[in-house]
Amino acid sequence: MTARLLDGKLVGQKIKSEAAEIAAHLAEKGFRPGLAAVLVGDDPASRTYVGSKVKTCAELGLHSEKIVLPQTTTTAELLAVVRDLNTRADIHGILVQMPLPKQIDAQTIIEAIDPAKDVDGFHPISAGKLMLKQDGFVPCTPAGIIEMLKFYDIPLRGCRAVVLGRSHIVGLPMSLLLLHRDVTLTVCHSRTANPAKIAHEADLVVAAIGKTAFVTGDFIRADATVIDVGINRVTTPAEVNEYFGDDTARHADIEKKGYTLIGDVHPRHALERAAYFTPVPGGVGPLTIAMLMRNTVRSAENFARKS
Ligand code: GUN
Repeated sequence: MTARLLDGKLVGQKIKSEAAEIAAHLAEKGFRPGLAAVLVGDDPASRTYVGSKVKTCAELGLHSEKIVLPQTTTTAELLAVVRDLNTRADIHGILVQMPLPKQIDAQTIIEAIDPAKDVDGFHPISAGKLMLKQDGFVPCTPAGIIEMLKFYDIPLRGCRAVVLGRSHIVGLPMSLLLLHRDVTLTVCHSRTANPAKIAHEADLVVAAIGKTAFVTGDFIRADATVIDVGINRVTTPAEVNEYFGDDTARHADIEKKGYTLIGDVHPRHALERAAYFTPVPGGVGPLTIAMLMRNTVRSAENFARKS
């Protein structure tokens, strides 16, 4: 069988249109939603992600500000920037792109963000609210995955799900969101013995481990839904053949750019075995930005309500 591809661009577009509509209403009342995106250093992937976030703000009519700081920035310097953004009436969302350079204490920075502007959902207050199933900001990638499953009517209640990875950004919040939807959950991580055997029992597999094509056919029960959160690169024609088969667009990609994107799931195997599969690119990626827009607009709504 061939898996049905879940279209993140389509679902993301719907979420972004809703956010744009709310932003327009707020702007009429003098509350144009504003996002500050802070990029520290020169990691090319981070620069691309922040660029996309700022560009999407402009497309949807949100105010945005990109703050770029040098690789050598200290924790104290970044703290000063965050504290200033906390006080700004035109900024409703603050995003500090992760990972930060090693000399910066990321947890101190995250905890300095005003929880009311924590549109990434990384602050301990946001994390606590998520754990307790209270209203608050939810990390964008797992929240987007839930929206995608809803859009395609993929049922969760009572299903068996395996989350591969336990990061604060994806694996842990994903696990909580699934538990809150009555999923029977197993979390696998770097110390788990035989994750393939465990994943093979699951109706839903979410792969968020950052390892190219780690999830092979033996992880995937026939008819499972497979969500691929990974964003990795392959650079050689032999790898393209192994992972994508005779895919001319992928070969053209590496000739043109030197690489093609791949997730944590072996795409050829997933297409053969799964019922639903999120492609990379075009699956989970567009949802992360769309949910950031939704969170920023919601934050502006909260501020407007309090004013
Ligand atoms: N790095 C990878 N994903 C994210 C994200 O969603 N937000 C931030 N701030 N950094 C990230």
